[in-house]
Amino acid sequence: MRQTRHLLWRDAARHAFELRPMLLDQFRHEDFRGRRVLDVGTGEGRLAFVAAGIGGHVIGVDADRMKLQQARAYAGVKDIRRVDFVWGDVEKTSYHGFSSEPFDFITSNLCMSPEIVWHASHGLRPGGKFIFCCHHGDHWKETRRGSRWAFYEDTMEDLLGENRFEIEFMGVDTIVAEFEELREVELFLRDETIRKWVEDGRWEELSDSFARGEKHLTQSYLTVKARRLAHELPSVE
Ligand SMILES: C[S@@+](CC[C@H](N)C(=O)[O-])C[C@H]1O[C@@H](n2cnc3c(N)ncnc32)[C@H](O)[C@@H]1O
Repeated sequence: MRQTRHLLWRDAARHAFELRPMLLDQFRHEDFRGRRVLDVGTGEGRLAFVAAGIGGHVIGVDADRMKLQQARAYAGVKDIRRVDFVWGDVEKTSYHGFSSEPFDFITSNLCMSPEIVWHASHGLRPGGKFIFCCHHGDHWKETRRGSRWAFYEDTMEDLLGENRFEIEFMGVDTIVAEFEELREVELFLRDETIRKWVEDGRWEELSDSFARGEKHLTQSYLTVKARRLAHELPSVE
């Protein structure tokens, strides 16, 4: 499934940092009640709170202690039970370290790598689901710099297949924000993103793209739901 919308940047900004509806839809189609959930790269716990809100027993893991503190504080203030936040490196640590039992669901929003897919495969029970949203390869394509967190569909399909997953859903959700001038991009993006792009040359690439009359910025997300198989997939000749 592919959804692409072209929006004026002010309208695009309203949706820029929210959890993708396509990802939330995948949550709605599952029964999380009483299920063990691991949210990797949980940050301030946005997705963990969604899973806890629909009945999951959630552990959110992140390597950023400040974000974990924010997540715990929010859980405390809102009195959200069934959610714990723990420190861990989700690319290096076995997910068995977070629970004695395999997980029913592993979730992630914008934290993805081949290592995470491998660990998710080992941390889920057979039949368990891996539900995530990551950057698609087209994300910020005007800056001509791929991100290590971004994947095209075929690469992700291969990665999941190699790790004993069967894909149940894969969708790409793209928003192309349209601008009149480069100055507006400064209002659209976070200050830290602009700083990073100026340092690593992406701002210059974007500026060249605007100079050519291509005054837009693409945000593209890959949403996946995959089921952990008990056995290897048969190889296709
Ligand atoms: C873009 S943020 C997304 C946070 C959260 N999932 C959300 O949607 O709000 C990516 C998060 O992944 C975390 N992260 C990146 N690499 C990690 C790793 N190897 N182990 C644990 N956390 C990691 C970062 O600290 C950050 O909080």
